[in-house]
Amino acid sequence: MLSYRHGFHAGNHADVLKHLVYQYVLTYMGKKNKPFSIIDTHAGAGAYKLSSDFSAKNKEYETGIGKLWQLPSSELPEQVASYVDAVRRFNVESDSADLSVYPGSPWFALDNLPMEAKAFFHELHPADFELLREFVRTNRYRKVIKGDGFVESVGLLPPPSKRAVVIIDPPYEMKQDYQRVTEYVHTMWKRFSSGVFLIWYPVVDRFRIDKMEQTLRDSGIKNIQQFELSIEPDTEERGMTGSGMLVVNPPWTLKAEMEQVLPYLSKQLSDGAGWYRCEQLVDE
Ligand SMILES: C[S@@+](CC[C@H](N)C(=O)[O-])C[C@H]1O[C@@H](n2cnc3c(N)ncnc32)[C@H](O)[C@@H]1O
Repeated sequence: MLSYRHGFHAGNHADVLKHLVYQYVLTYMGKKNKPFSIIDTHAGAGAYKLSSDFSAKNKEYETGIGKLWQLPSSELPEQVASYVDAVRRFNVESDSADLSVYPGSPWFALDNLPMEAKAFFHELHPADFELLREFVRTNRYRKVIKGDGFVESVGLLPPPSKRAVVIIDPPYEMKQDYQRVTEYVHTMWKRFSSGVFLIWYPVVDRFRIDKMEQTLRDSGIKNIQQFELSIEPDTEERGMTGSGMLVVNPPWTLKAEMEQVLPYLSKQLSDGAGWYRCEQLVDE
């Protein structure tokens, strides 16, 4: 089933959490003067016009980047400012003075890609794959792969550079994605246990998240942190009320950073009903 198009959701509160954590991890990895590989299993189109039919339909970006965009940089926590600045830079690069485009995970990767770092972007949807191929100027270091990211990327670990960041961001429209994510991370971790794995998930059905957490706790994978940002209390009636990021082998500074960022975001992006989790799910 390929009905999901990320254009409907680009820049929403879930993208804010995902891209802010991703940017932090990539910046941290880039501080060491050693190359690393980036594997994006579900890359999307690369960038999104907020005036397109998709984005304009529900204006989901107004629940996320739209709210932060209006605030003065000096009032934002450092990491939030850095994320908003990145989106601003992308708009400037795209000849837009205002917020009219939103970058996807491939842009955050390319923006932080050190010399000779290899990046592999996977996308299954034919239309988004074509957009992605146009967006990523492929060369010997940057590859765009049309296919199932859960399958096509397995052989990419362990990486020649001995350092890797893997971002896993499926649509979860098919409920098997919850199980596929944990199986995939387990497989990849067994191939390369020092890799940094980022898993995004939606808060729609709490029991599915509980199950995913338990599977990860039982998997033998060490050092997993969990960051969740909700703009409303859990409900089974209104669709996605929040989202989370699970990070295996996080930068040692990430949790302290998120302890500053999450209270701020849960307040700014909600109408008072927001809440967050910032936890060490599995010890080192
Ligand atoms: C949530 S979106 C990705 C957004 C992107 N990571 C970002 O942050 O900008 C999920 C994408 O995965 C694609 N997709 C769905 N199943 C896939 C699969 N098995 N392998 C690769 N891509 C898939 C969808 O077409 C969609 O573009």
